[in-house]
Amino acid sequence: MQKETSLSILELRQQLRKSIRAKRLALSPEQQNFASQQIIGPSLKLIEQYQATKIAFYLPFNGEISPLALMEELKKLGKKIYLPVLHPFSENYLLFIEYQSEQDLEQNRFGIWQPKLDARKVLPLDELEMIFVPLVAFDKQGNRLGMGGGFYDRTLSLIPDVITVGLAHRCQQVDELPIESWDIPLNHFVIGEAE
Ligand SMILES: Nc1ncnc2c1ncn2[C@@H]1O[C@H](COP(=O)(O)OP(=O)(O)O)[C@@H](O)[C@H]1O
Ligand SMILES: [Mg+2]
Repeated sequence: MQKETSLSILELRQQLRKSIRAKRLALSPEQQNFASQQIIGPSLKLIEQYQATKIAFYLPFNGEISPLALMEELKKLGKKIYLPVLHPFSENYLLFIEYQSEQDLEQNRFGIWQPKLDARKVLPLDELEMIFVPLVAFDKQGNRLGMGGGFYDRTLSLIPDVITVGLAHRCQQVDELPIESWDIPLNHFVIGEAE
């Protein structure tokens, strides 16, 4: 009898998340800093290409590539910068709030910093033009694997026309991700090449 050795898609995705998160976390502060500078040029080029003015980013967590230096450049150019906030009622969806200063931040239940929720500051989702998305793994076909909460899949399913840009370190790339029907692939990727 043949031995059953194949893993389920769920197990495969969990293993990939674990191994790639460890690789990402093992990058040195110098490598992280280098990568965060490296993504500025190509990201500005994409933003110009689409002439986007309302753009969402994220605050880096668990070794994610940092878009903070890029966000500072964009502020100087007069762009409006938004950050995700966990939706208070619709479980596992994101809202976007304009990022003005570090003083307006608090930690959410995952320990990720987010702007303090103020209903008056929430951007209607369809006004968002471009969104830079964090990820755990990606492949050449444009597929994305996140941390497993499905937050971006759910939220992006509501705004199919928004331009999506994955930001990642090269060590997060795999040949082919095991994908699920609900996974939303990304339009572009900007990669930090720090070895
Ligand atoms: N549009 C959606 N509507 C409802 N549930 C969704 C949607 N997108 C994803 N999910 C659910 O979210 C969970 C996590 O999704 P997954 O793709 O594994 O996470 P991630 O994208 O963070 O890696 C799955 O159980 C999936 O069914
Ligand atoms: Mg997904």
